[in-house]
Amino acid sequence: MNKLNEHRGDILIVDDVPENLQLLFTMLTEQEYEVRRVLNGKQALNAVRVEPPDLILLDIKMPELDGYEVCRQLKADEKTQDIPVIFLSALNDTFDKVKAFEVGGVDYISKPFQLQEVIIRVENQLNLLRMQRELKTKNEELEAFGYRVSHDLRNHLTIINSITYLLNQKYGKTLNEVAQNYIESLEEESERMGEIIEDLWRLSESKSNYLDMVLDSFNLSSMVEKIVNKFKIKSGNKQKEFIIEPDIYVTGDQRLIKIALENLLDNANKFTAKIEQPRIEFGRLQKNDQNVYFVKDNGVGFEPKKAENLFTPFHRLHRKETFTGTGIGLATVKKIIERHGGNIWYDAGVNQGATFYFSLA
Ligand SMILES: Nc1ncnc2c1ncn2[C@@H]1O[C@H](COP(=O)(O)OP(=O)(O)OP(=O)(O)O)[C@@H](O)[C@H]1O
Ligand SMILES: [Mg+2]
Repeated sequence: MNKLNEHRGDILIVDDVPENLQLLFTMLTEQEYEVRRVLNGKQALNAVRVEPPDLILLDIKMPELDGYEVCRQLKADEKTQDIPVIFLSALNDTFDKVKAFEVGGVDYISKPFQLQEVIIRVENQLNLLRMQRELKTKNEELEAFGYRVSHDLRNHLTIINSITYLLNQKYGKTLNEVAQNYIESLEEESERMGEIIEDLWRLSESKSNYLDMVLDSFNLSSMVEKIVNKFKIKSGNKQKEFIIEPDIYVTGDQRLIKIALENLLDNANKFTAKIEQPRIEFGRLQKNDQNVYFVKDNGVGFEPKKAENLFTPFHRLHRKETFTGTGIGLATVKKIIERHGGNIWYDAGVNQGATFYFSLA
């Protein structure tokens, strides 16, 4: 898709008046654009499907499929929706500018055409497209970088942790109290650092499109059960009630969905830690004929009005001193749910617990 850098741009002109086509064709080929031309909407849709151009100049008034309709169809298809469309309108046509933008056009050019104007408008759109593509590549590079770095850091940290452990085991007793405290701080800090690195790694993993999803049908309830059991072991079986609806099957990428559930349940567990009778629930309900899954807790909750950026990385609603965390969990969950074509939303109140709902396509 990066062919834009190699040449000036591949433009498709669609107009049912051959003279118009010829005029634009000559103008643009002289400017060294690669130009294709077709005479009606149907041909246009075919040409785009065979080879998507970088830009389309689209006449509005055409028999059968008019320009608005062609544009609407292009925008409805994921494969063609990003191709910019500039509308061509004659002065005496009843041209509806608002409608042109509403159906997804990015600009319009009025007939009779003025050479300079056509070139400037075309070049504007192509520049925008170049920048968008560059941004996309940069983002992908950055994500791959995040993945790599957090992965490598994790390995090094594991080594530091092992050495600290050995140091303590073998020589701890021979050290004085001050030195022992140092080692203890070392252990605490590297454990915290490990958590942050783990979170970052998961976030970049959930985003990495180069890691293909593997779709399976599996028992979501058992997955929840296993995660919850780990909490139980960690907290030494402290009185916490878990209600898990059994045998809920879903289709999705198990590895990613596990990360999402771990984060949601980890939050539910964390934010009920200081509650009298903590209760965490997992289940399913139907909304508009769609399966919706939820993780519900009766913890400290939060003020929904302050939660607009809840799914943005590093955004937290509680102070670090009260509840530890980096603020990456929910950003990761959202990315994973979206990669499955689903949605995530919540219901919460201060001291009234929180419920996170999600769908999977
Ligand atoms: N079940 C919940 N109850 C109350 N507040 C929640 C709940 N889940 C999330 N939040 C709020 O949303 C914030 C963001 O959650 P997120 O999981 O992204 O980060 P975190 O848990 O603070 O850190 P991390 O998950 O990276 O360790 C939390 O800090 C908290 O303020
Ligand atoms: Mg979290």
